[in-house]
Amino acid sequence: MQIIESITEMQKALEPYCAAGKSIALVPTMGYLHAGHMSLVKRARAENDVVVLSIFVNPTQFSPAEDFEGYPRDLAHDAGLAKRARADFIFAPEVDEMYPNGYGTFVEVDGPETQGMCAAGRPSHFRGVATVVEKLLDIVGPDRIYFGQKDAQQLAVVRKMVKDLNIPVEIVGCPIVREPDGLAMSSRNVYLRPDERQAATILYVALKRGAALVEHGEKSSARIIEAVKRVISGEPLADLEYVEIREVAGFTAPKTISGEIMIAVAARFGRARLIDNVIVNVE
Ligand code: PAJ
Repeated sequence: MQIIESITEMQKALEPYCAAGKSIALVPTMGYLHAGHMSLVKRARAENDVVVLSIFVNPTQFSPAEDFEGYPRDLAHDAGLAKRARADFIFAPEVDEMYPNGYGTFVEVDGPETQGMCAAGRPSHFRGVATVVEKLLDIVGPDRIYFGQKDAQQLAVVRKMVKDLNIPVEIVGCPIVREPDGLAMSSRNVYLRPDERQAATILYVALKRGAALVEHGEKSSARIIEAVKRVISGEPLADLEYVEIREVAGFTAPKTISGEIMIAVAARFGRARLIDNVIVNVE
C-alpha cells in the first residue's frame, strides 16, 4: 500500500491501471478511521481491482466556529487499518495541495437535498462537501465511489451533483455500522465523555421508536417526528438540533408517509454533534 500526498503523483500512479482497463474505487474520508469507514473499504475491495482511500480533513466543509483544527487525526493508525483491509493507495493531500493560494471554484448543489436538516445549522457545509468530492472525482477518476448511509444528506447531495454534472461514476451507498449498543460509529464519538457516550444511545432508541410507528401504520410525519422528539427529550444530556422525515427518492419532506422514507436526527452531547437515521419502507 502506498501513501501519496501529491495530486500529480496520485494521477500518475493510477495511469497504468486505467490503461489496462482496471476498475478503480474511491472511498473518501476525513480519516480517524473506524469500522464504519472500513466497511466501505471492504466493499470497495470486493467490487474493484484498485482501491483508493482518501484521507483529507476538508476545511471548506467546516464553518469558522466548528472543529476543523481539533478534528481527530492519526494517519499512522489509519494507514495500519487501510493496509489490513488491503487498500492499494491512501491519498492524503495537505490543505495547500487541494486549495492552493488563489483557489476560487466551488460546487453549489441546489434543491431539497441542501435545504433543512444539517444545511440549516451548517449553511456552507454541503458546498464544501460537494466541492471536495468533485475534486477527488477529478483527481482519481474512479469507476465507483463509496459513501455511508450514516451521512444520508451528504449522500443525497453527492447523488444530485453526479447526476446534474453528468459525472461518469457509480455511487455505492453502504449501511450504517453501529456499536453493539446501537450508537452509530463516528470519528466524533471520541469527543464524548463517558456519561455523554451512554446518553448518546438515545438517538437510535428514538429512531427505532419512529420506525416502529411507521411500521404500525402511522401516516402523519408530524406525529412521528413528535414521538421521536419526545423520546430524545427524556435524555437531559441531549441537545436536539432536528428530527426530520424525508422521502429517500427526491429527498422531499412528506406530510403523509408513503413508500421509502428516512427519519433523520441531529443532536449535541457536550461538544460532539452527532447525526443518525433509519430508513423505513412502508410498502
Ligand atoms: P467521514 O465523516 O470521515 O466519513 C467518510 C465516509 O464514511 C462517509 O461516506 C460516511 O458516511 C462513512 N461513514 C462514517 N461513519 C459511518 C458508519 N458508522 N457506518 C457507515 N459508514 C460510515 O463524510 C465525510 O468524511 C466527508 O464529508 C467526506 C465525504 C470525506 C468529504 O470531505
